[in-house]
Amino acid sequence: MNFKRKILCIGAGYVGGPTMAMIALKCPQYRVTVVDINEQRIREWQSDNLPIYEPGLLPVVKEALNRNLFFSTEIDRNIKEADIIFVSVNTPTKSFGQGAGMAADLQYWEKTARQILANSDTDKIVVEKSTLPIRTARAMERILNSNDRGIRFEVLSNPEFLAEGTAIKDLEAPDRVLIGSRETEPGIRARKELVDIYANWVPHERIIESNVWSAELSKLTANAFLAQRVSSINSLSALCEKTEADINEVAYAIGTDSRIGNKFLKPSVGFGGSCFKKDILNLVYICRSYGLIEVADYWESVVKINEWQEKRFVQNILVNMFNTIAGKKIAVLGFAFKADTGDTRESPAIYVARGLVEERANVVISDPKAIINAKKELFDINACVTYEEDPYRAAEGSHAIAILTEWAVYKTLDYKRIYDSMEKPAFIFDGRNLLDHKKLYEIGFNVFSIGKGPLKHI
Ligand SMILES: NC(=O)c1ccc[n+]([C@@H]2O[C@H](COP(=O)([O-])OP(=O)(O)OC[C@H]3O[C@@H](n4cnc5c(N)ncnc54)[C@H](O)[C@@H]3O)[C@@H](O)[C@H]2O)c1
Repeated sequence: MNFKRKILCIGAGYVGGPTMAMIALKCPQYRVTVVDINEQRIREWQSDNLPIYEPGLLPVVKEALNRNLFFSTEIDRNIKEADIIFVSVNTPTKSFGQGAGMAADLQYWEKTARQILANSDTDKIVVEKSTLPIRTARAMERILNSNDRGIRFEVLSNPEFLAEGTAIKDLEAPDRVLIGSRETEPGIRARKELVDIYANWVPHERIIESNVWSAELSKLTANAFLAQRVSSINSLSALCEKTEADINEVAYAIGTDSRIGNKFLKPSVGFGGSCFKKDILNLVYICRSYGLIEVADYWESVVKINEWQEKRFVQNILVNMFNTIAGKKIAVLGFAFKADTGDTRESPAIYVARGLVEERANVVISDPKAIINAKKELFDINACVTYEEDPYRAAEGSHAIAILTEWAVYKTLDYKRIYDSMEKPAFIFDGRNLLDHKKLYEIGFNVFSIGKGPLKHI
């Protein structure tokens, strides 16, 4: 079949896989290929056992697979053939040298830029899909356009705003698609090509066009604002616990103000995920490098509050269980950083599980989708942790339960049965304010939640 254009995406991860599957589904006139250096990932994308868990993803992939959606490890050949190349490789926090622990590690991204250059013999549009520091497009342009073969590359920024767990919904009906380009004639022409792709299913008024720097910065800003709301409500949850105010009531009361809005006001053990912390620290690093110390400090405090909230959660368990949990069995229900994903990157459960193990508790971890990833996260302490997919078995004989992911299934468990199988006094620490605390208290549990006084029998 003759395709209108050939699209390539480098990086078949949580972003590259679902976004390209959606483009392929909605735009059968484009050939979409996704490549990765990870052969196993590519094999899994070609199977019924996808490398990531995401509700609704499998049917989307299956419909387009081998029609106009292809997964491959042949990176060089696919670069040569492509007209439009999305770069969706990982951009983790740098762990070495200058900026370690703060700046983005751009080594994967730069390798990709050089590989594109080495394998191109026609003009191409290169799209930054990965989240990158502001002004990365300039570095990319410099590398790509350093060739003396007369090949021109136009670099666009098209940051991805999908949220794991709702990726398919977010991709199918996005709040907005943002496309930034240089304000030159070829830049605007390239931008129009990308707008035309999304316009196959996204209404025009939801496709925002901007300059390339605004697009790059908007992604970091969006994540910083979202995380800031979580840290803001979490900081006040601590005050509620001291004053008999109820953070859920406070959140509801302020959320009805249309200027504030009611989203992202849920108190919890803290935010996780691969992006929030990394992107804020990246923003902090950029601000510092421009001498904007106050701005950097302001945003850094969002991460600090999050770390404090995780720490506070472990301390609460320890203090309320008579200052010792050594030898006590604690069932951690939920390890994914949020519900409906198997992703455990930066999950608060990592910090909590490690804190409990440090206090020599016998930690049992249960999760419907994240046990494989949990084992990888805790690789160095796996001898001190057990894994049990069935929450009832995990809770059996335990002294306490800690809810760390808001999986819907945890709401409907038979807590009387669980209580009967536990050591007494039985404790429950609800790190997501997910459960009916009054009911649990009536069953006999000592209940501790976020931002509300405890319900105790002891
Ligand atoms: N995960 C999210 O929810 C999310 C949302 C929006 C934006 N982002 C951003 O998107 C980017 C990708 O995130 P992700 O979660 O998909 O990461 P990921 O780690 O799941 O996937 C990245 C993939 O890139 C591959 N890769 C790395 N170097 C490569 C190379 N040289 N050639 C080919 N493949 C290569 C890796 O093998 C990996 O499979 C990051 O910048 C992230 O910040 C992520």
